[in-house]
Amino acid sequence: DQSLRAAAARHNLYIGTAVDSTALNDAADPKYRELVKSQFSSVTAENVMKWESLEPTRGTYNWAPADELIAFAKANHQLVRGHVLVWHNQLPAWLTEGVADGSISKTELREILKNHITNVVKHFKGKIWQWDVVNEAASDPWDSPSTIHYKGFWAQNLGEGYIADAFRWARAADPKALLFYNDYNLEAFGDGGPSDKVQFIYNFVKKLKADGVPIDGIGAQGHLGTQYGNYDVFQVSDMLKRFTDLGLAAAFTEVDVRSYTATVADSNELNPRLQASAYNHSVLLQACLLNPKCLSFTLWGVSDNHSWVPTWFTDPPEGLATVYDETYQPKKAYFQLKADLFLA
Ligand code: G3I
Repeated sequence: DQSLRAAAARHNLYIGTAVDSTALNDAADPKYRELVKSQFSSVTAENVMKWESLEPTRGTYNWAPADELIAFAKANHQLVRGHVLVWHNQLPAWLTEGVADGSISKTELREILKNHITNVVKHFKGKIWQWDVVNEAASDPWDSPSTIHYKGFWAQNLGEGYIADAFRWARAADPKALLFYNDYNLEAFGDGGPSDKVQFIYNFVKKLKADGVPIDGIGAQGHLGTQYGNYDVFQVSDMLKRFTDLGLAAAFTEVDVRSYTATVADSNELNPRLQASAYNHSVLLQACLLNPKCLSFTLWGVSDNHSWVPTWFTDPPEGLATVYDETYQPKKAYFQLKADLFLA
């Protein structure tokens, strides 16, 4: 067995992918399903566990797509990362519109959030290894104000206290699941030190721990781009260590490394952009392998034909972010990850 999952098993590391349920169930696209089974030991629902998907109409749950993914994972001896309980994106319209028009009060909103977390975590109880409890609560330096702050729908409506509440409600509903805070741009540093965003998240996670809030792990998403140059394995592992020194586990949860497609003539693995993509994938994996508390390394998508990047970054167009090309040929990044796993 020369798969990524076999190589990762040597280190007791779980290697995962985000799964697009439409592609997984597309009979005309059998290779996608075959690769999810054979190469990965963990799966994350790319969309079907998000609130808009689970409860499109208030009080009516649509569990089937998520249940199917969990059954698939069980059949293939894979662990499941639950994604995501509290996020400001992909919320159902009944919720955001109800808050906007005042028909849902702040008091009711807090109850709705508590019920959502409780219902969802109980429904999947015993089947989820790690939950992304709160996702992307911190702002970015380019937001206004540029000082890092708690951003988005939940902070605006409930204040930052929703974060501690969310972890407590999740723990009560499934005491065995590992509870994660998940965010992006934790890999980026300024002038060799941690970025303001990393420092902000570090401070609030530290405070959560000190207050006895049940948080078990930090998820670094790992959405990188080759246009930002080569990331540094010392900096990334220092970042992880800061968090694991607080007694937390860690995981890379959404790794992909995109490029400007207009300047990449082909998907030949000798293309410098794809070399750089492979290098940055490798930096994150090596940082994870260096830290005994780094539990899993999840890629955000299997292949370039099923990646969020080309639909999201269109001006200028970006893509080529995953480790398999559009025809499911493994790219340089795939072989680099495997080499890292064998050599570590
Ligand atoms: O399901 C509808 C479909 O009915 C409709 O016809 C189609 C037309 O636009 O849209 C479909 O919904 C899309 C959904 O993915 C499912 O494919 C949404 O438009 C699209 O915006 C959505 O994008 C997802 C994105 O999160 C939205 O926030 C991406 O697939 C998903 O990869 C991405 O994942 C996030 C993580 O959850 C959190 N971290 C960042 C990461 C990348 O943005």
